[in-house]
This record gives sequence, structure tokens and C-alpha cells, in this order.
Amino acid sequence: MEALGIDIGGTGIKGAPVDTSTGALLAERFRLPTPQPATPEAMTQTVSQIVSHFDWQGPVGAGFPAIIQQGVARSAANIDPSWIGRDVRDMFQQACGCPVTVLNDADAAGTAEVHFGAGRGLAGVVLVLTLGTGIGSALFTNGHLVPNTEFGHIEIGGKVAETRTADSAREREELSWKKWARRLDRYLDRLEFYLSPELIIVGGGVSRKHDRFLPLLTIDTEIVPAQLRNEAGIVGAAAAAAVAVGNP
Ligand code: BGC
Repeated sequence: MEALGIDIGGTGIKGAPVDTSTGALLAERFRLPTPQPATPEAMTQTVSQIVSHFDWQGPVGAGFPAIIQQGVARSAANIDPSWIGRDVRDMFQQACGCPVTVLNDADAAGTAEVHFGAGRGLAGVVLVLTLGTGIGSALFTNGHLVPNTEFGHIEIGGKVAETRTADSAREREELSWKKWARRLDRYLDRLEFYLSPELIIVGGGVSRKHDRFLPLLTIDTEIVPAQLRNEAGIVGAAAAAAVAVGNP
């Protein structure tokens, strides 16, 4: 079936219609900057602009950078704190007039990788990490998602991992690839110990430059770049919307 996938990030909100049986985008993606401050009203308006851009009336899936339970935001690490407790699904639905499914952004990207990308057909535990403004995580066992894991927020040396290890930290602190890879390695070493995954998939914009840092890592677990790159969040959100309306 066709669903509109929307990927809501700390810096950009982008969307495209997706063929959810193949994961292919059906039109060029449309991107708008995330409004600052990223308040519920401003972000909802941006989402509805994306829906109108495609003149869309079908199911919409949105990946949102927070814990999402039954459509409600339960955290707000890189968005305006006034989101906490707001019913994201209801707000988007009202604004767009379409059936909306909302899930965590990393869960959406991970779903796309497991269905159509680097984790396709893989049994066992697969961990997908998105390295961007924050660190998002998606955990799968035999292709099934354990929603809302927040492994970007584990503490290492008394500090929240994403504040030192997200790609935004590399940019902000102007870290060399070597220095940043050392931090990443330490972080991944912890996750490897906690979860014993078969495979770790690294997504987010920086995964395009995987040859700069993946070879510097020393963990034992196989680690590969995401295959859908920029599109994973859109494709996974659309796939979730298709499942929600009864079309896996
Ligand atoms: C948030 C997660 C989100 C990740 C990536 C983290 O700060 O807590 O919910 O998935 O950033 O956007």
C-alpha cells in the first residue's frame, strides 16, 4: 500500500510517500527546517505543511524524537519540553485530517533497516543506533521491535552518552574522527556487554562517512552502516502507518 512517511528530527522535518511493500519512495522527499523553538504548535504546523505539499489524504506515519506511548510524548531531550504529555498523534491528526501513526524516530529508522535494509531477514538481536543531534536506539529480536529503548541516555563516566557521543558532539567540539571514534567505541562496548547483539547498524547522517570511523572501532560485534541512510526514518514511519491500518 502507499503511506506518507514523515521523519521529525531536531533540525529538519522531511516526508515522502512510500510503497510500503518495497520501501521505495514514490516521490522526491520534501524537507522543511524544524521550527525553533520546537514547540507543539509550530511543529504540528510544519507537519501539516508537508502533508499538504503532497496533497495527501491516506495514512500518515511520523517518526518523532521522543518516547511515544499510545501517541503521547513522554520525553523531550532535543525538542521543546512542553511536548511532554501532549498527544502527538491527536495533534497531527487534527491538523492533517488523515489517520496518523506516531512512533519514536529511531524505532522508525530501525524498522526500515530491519525490513528493507542492513538487517533484512536477520534472526536474533539486532541493535540500530542513529547518530545525529542525539543518539536514538531501536532494538529488535527476530525482526520484532522492543519500542522506546533510550540507549542514547545510558550514563558513561557519569555523563549521558549522547551529550558526548552523538554526531552533534563531534561537530560542536570539533573532534577528530579518531577522538570521536574512541568515545563511540567506549559507548558501544557497554551496549555490546548489556545486549549481546548479533549485529549493530549505525544510521544517521554521519553513517555516510562510515569509512572514517567504523574501521577505528574495536568491539567484537559486527557493525555496519545503515543502507537506507537519509530515507530510513521516512520509510519506517510509513511502514508503521501501513501496519496500523491493517496492511503489513
Ligand atoms: C531521544 C530519543 C530519540 C533520539 C534521536 C534522543 O535524545 O531521547 O527519543 O530517538 O534522541 O532523535
